[in-house]
Amino acid sequence: MISFRAWHHCSVKTRVTTVASAVMALLCVFATLLLLAAPQPPRYDSSAALAGFVAGSLLLIAATALGTYWMMSKTLQPVRAISGKLTTIRPSSLGERVPLPSHDDEFKELAQATNQTLERAQAAIQDQLRFASDTSHDLRNPLAAMRTEIEEALMRREETDWEETAGRLLDSLERLQDLVTNLLEISRLDAGAVGQYDLLNLAVLVDGELDHRQDKVRVVRRFSSGVMVHGERIGLTRLLHNLMDNAERHARSTVIVTVEHRGDAAVLEIYDDGSGVPYEQREVIFERFARLQDALVKDTGGSGLGLPIARQIAEEHGGTLTLEDSPSGARFVARFPRPAALAAGSR
Ligand SMILES: Nc1ncnc2c1ncn2[C@@H]1O[C@H](COP(=O)(O)OP(=O)(O)OP(=O)(O)O)[C@@H](O)[C@H]1O
Ligand SMILES: [Mg+2]
Repeated sequence: MISFRAWHHCSVKTRVTTVASAVMALLCVFATLLLLAAPQPPRYDSSAALAGFVAGSLLLIAATALGTYWMMSKTLQPVRAISGKLTTIRPSSLGERVPLPSHDDEFKELAQATNQTLERAQAAIQDQLRFASDTSHDLRNPLAAMRTEIEEALMRREETDWEETAGRLLDSLERLQDLVTNLLEISRLDAGAVGQYDLLNLAVLVDGELDHRQDKVRVVRRFSSGVMVHGERIGLTRLLHNLMDNAERHARSTVIVTVEHRGDAAVLEIYDDGSGVPYEQREVIFERFARLQDALVKDTGGSGLGLPIARQIAEEHGGTLTLEDSPSGARFVARFPRPAALAAGSR
């Protein structure tokens, strides 16, 4: 048992060299036995010739061991170069890559796979750093606004309308609260935390949630019956509210909410009659913290996390969320696989 373990702790070079030498030794022993057992022993019969034969065999075994060791050292050189480089790479130097061997062999594949992994790790860390910096920036703004508000109020205690000040402080607090709620949701989604999935009637869920909203514009409901999805109620509710918040914020007068089947998909569509999103910005708005000029100018108060969260939720459900063509305004379409299609797909 101990020797077996020790064998596995030997380097590859040592193991291959030992096996090759052992095979050569066996061959030599076998050849010697064959010669001795021959019915008419040839001219090697003398003890001197036998000793020469044994010495030759030993030389052959030594040459095999040395040759194998040298060859293995050369062969494994790229592996040593890769592991040597990997041990020097730190989070701050993730831009570095392991050297690619010149031959197109398995070691080159290993080096390429290692570099691709490093590339993905670098991209993930850069995303996290950008996210942390954007988050700090967005947290700092309402905090700075609150501080200024309080300092000014305290400087002019007599003239301050404390009710108005409290109202403005509450606005900033609300922004902070929304941002922190969004950040929590993002970390939950990024961590892959999965809630309970149920078979849900999409139209019933959307209808109920719209009833609880205070409509700021006219909301038209167009629901087909029997549109079922396999989903997480809290997630889908969140997706709906994020889209509705945007639609109501940007609509001129009307938002149309549709739930229906389209082909194999259960579809939730939210269509407003606002200014819409320029074609070239259709994907940009799904990036974290992205807010278009229009929203920034109007200071609509958002943080640019609503759509990325909504899309991540749709994708968690095996679906999609896109902004699609419309004659005017913005038309967001969330598609989910129908439970029947899901079952057929997993068969
Ligand atoms: N219905 C819409 N019409 C026009 N522009 C939109 C619409 N929905 C989103 N946008 C644009 O996309 C940007 C990103 O939307 P998103 O929901 O991610 O963030 P937000 O609404 O600004 O903030 P948050 O949702 O975090 O409160 C918005 O700032 C706005 O510029
Ligand atoms: Mg939003």
